[in-house]
Amino acid sequence: MSPHIARRMEAFSPFYVMELLQRAKQLEAQGKDIIHMEIGEPDYPTPINVLNAGLKHIQTGQIKYTAAAGLPELRKKISSYYQLNYAVDVSPERIFVTPGASGAFLLALGVSLNPGENIIMADPCYPCNSNFVQFFEGKTQFVNVDASTGYQLTANLIEQNWSASSRGVLIASPSNPTGTLISELQLKRSIELVNSLDGCFFSDEIYHGLVYDKKACSALEFSDDVFVINSFSKYFAMTGWRVGWLIVPEHFIDAVERLAQNIFISTSTHSQYAALAAFSKQNLAELNLRTQKFANRRDFLYDNLLRLGFDIAIKPEGAFYIYANCSAFTNDSFQFAKDLLEQEGVAVTPGKDFGKNEANCHIRFAYTASIAKMAAAIERLEKFLCR
Ligand SMILES: Cc1ncc(COP(=O)(O)O)c(C=O)c1O
Repeated sequence: MSPHIARRMEAFSPFYVMELLQRAKQLEAQGKDIIHMEIGEPDYPTPINVLNAGLKHIQTGQIKYTAAAGLPELRKKISSYYQLNYAVDVSPERIFVTPGASGAFLLALGVSLNPGENIIMADPCYPCNSNFVQFFEGKTQFVNVDASTGYQLTANLIEQNWSASSRGVLIASPSNPTGTLISELQLKRSIELVNSLDGCFFSDEIYHGLVYDKKACSALEFSDDVFVINSFSKYFAMTGWRVGWLIVPEHFIDAVERLAQNIFISTSTHSQYAALAAFSKQNLAELNLRTQKFANRRDFLYDNLLRLGFDIAIKPEGAFYIYANCSAFTNDSFQFAKDLLEQEGVAVTPGKDFGKNEANCHIRFAYTASIAKMAAAIERLEKFLCR
């Protein structure tokens, strides 16, 4: 690495799927039809009323900074959303509007993590979260998880891995890449344990709303002493608007405010107005129809991958991913993904983007494509496996 690049960058892992995405674009430019099942964002557009609310605000020309913590009316709306969905009271003062969940993580870790301290996370998991820890010169203590715990941490696993340098625990439920949920009991016990250890509990709830068989619990149902990270990116289909939120324990409000003022000044103003419109009854009804469609897609993909011989230890309950074991076909899932793209034009994400734990025998399929497209992908996959 160049001597001018900061040492902290050495451990920043790249996204391997980007290599595939770049190749997919080249192939598309050559006229090849590519079916995208690698992309972690809804294929549905931002709903029209939300789009119009953003546009209407742009037309006023008043695209000024907002308060660093976000538009007061949006913070109030988010607060009511918690009352409605989880029956919990969260005062708007504890809610910060951020540039996506990514911005929320920067604030949450920035105010709580000292250099050298570690955060416990499951492996496999969404890779950026541990890179954020690295950014603050902390360390991630990965704990291998498997189907026996629903690919989630448990209070026991946290206890076994907690050390003098542990600062906190981060869970994501539903998980990216496995789509599995932490059980209510384990969530409660894990929070109680981390609180008793005087640690910080970070709950990434970005896929809430995209949950199919039962309700996902929020960490806020069990304690006010937690950081909750959420976003308009996934359920609300607003990835590119870059707007999310962070809920913090009361005693962190002042520190988060100061950090937000300094690193963001504010979240994009028109995006916040669009996000405000995302809570309308009509929009939530439309989003819930989409959730039903995602459930149908999940069922379709799950049944077909099993039929083709992939092993899926747990049927995912949320998000839009299936993390399939492909060891019946390969022990190099990155090469498998490259060959599948080259030979059949189907793009998927290799396990090594999500950690080291059995990564080489896993592939993540995103069902961010219509059933018709996925049916074509399954046909191509079948052909690829028969070669
Ligand atoms: C688990 C998880 N957390 C956080 C993010 C970041 O999302 P955003 O910054 O778009 O809100 C993602 C994006 O894919 C994710 O999968």
